[in-house]
Amino acid sequence: MITKEQIDAAKLPSHIAIIMDGNGRWAKQQGKIRTFGHQHGVTAVRDTVEAAAEIGVKFLTLYAFSTENWSRPKFEIDALMSLLVQTISKETATLMKNNIRLATIGDTESLPSGVYKKLQKAIDETSGNTRMTLVLALSYSSRWEITRAVKAIAAKVKAGDIDPDKIDEATISDHLCTAGWPDPELMIRTSGESRISNYLLWQIAYAELYFTPKLWPDFRKEDLYEAIVDYQGRERRFGKVSEQLNPKHA
Ligand code: FPP
Repeated sequence: MITKEQIDAAKLPSHIAIIMDGNGRWAKQQGKIRTFGHQHGVTAVRDTVEAAAEIGVKFLTLYAFSTENWSRPKFEIDALMSLLVQTISKETATLMKNNIRLATIGDTESLPSGVYKKLQKAIDETSGNTRMTLVLALSYSSRWEITRAVKAIAAKVKAGDIDPDKIDEATISDHLCTAGWPDPELMIRTSGESRISNYLLWQIAYAELYFTPKLWPDFRKEDLYEAIVDYQGRERRFGKVSEQLNPKHA
């Protein structure tokens, strides 16, 4: 089993993004309904947030509800929304105690107003915290985010505030929900699926992808350590060749 001590603090990813998948299958394995899996998913969220903060990760982004999830049965959507409200109410004090800031990405205004208000309250309350930013992707999809950014840039071009010849990668990044934050260096998906599912498509251009068969409700601190140690063993070339990165060994 991988332990925290095996992590090289000097090569820590500053931003980890996770696709929490497999709650439904986990519940089915127990002979329970899908929402039972989501409830147990909260335990995995708590464990993962605690581990990430302890190690020194600065940003942790969790895919909690996608734009596409709105097409799930109403019962499941309602259960997820009330789980979100309950968890935020219960955990805001823990976030404060641990100096963790809460943030969201996504079309959060489309959330039920009670959920939106609860979230905003927790975001405001934790806004001064500096140890780690916990980002919940809610009603989020990358194509929604990129479309929104394009519209915002187009409006500024029309108003004469942006010169189209000056649009570069930074202009795009600055109009995404993640503006000002580092891109994730490590992206984890649980449950054995090897897909990105419309998540942070622009931001993960150079991220290392890590897929584990573990179902999300079973994900624990050690699983996060394992993903980080695996990431640290990889050579990140950013389009260069190995010898350029390690001239001594050329
Ligand atoms: C994917 O499993 C999981 C989700 C769509 C929701 C994730 C939500 C939680 C972990 C609980 C609430 C979160 C917070 C941050 C309080 P799935 O339902 O797609 O599983 P399946 O692929 O096995 O059907």
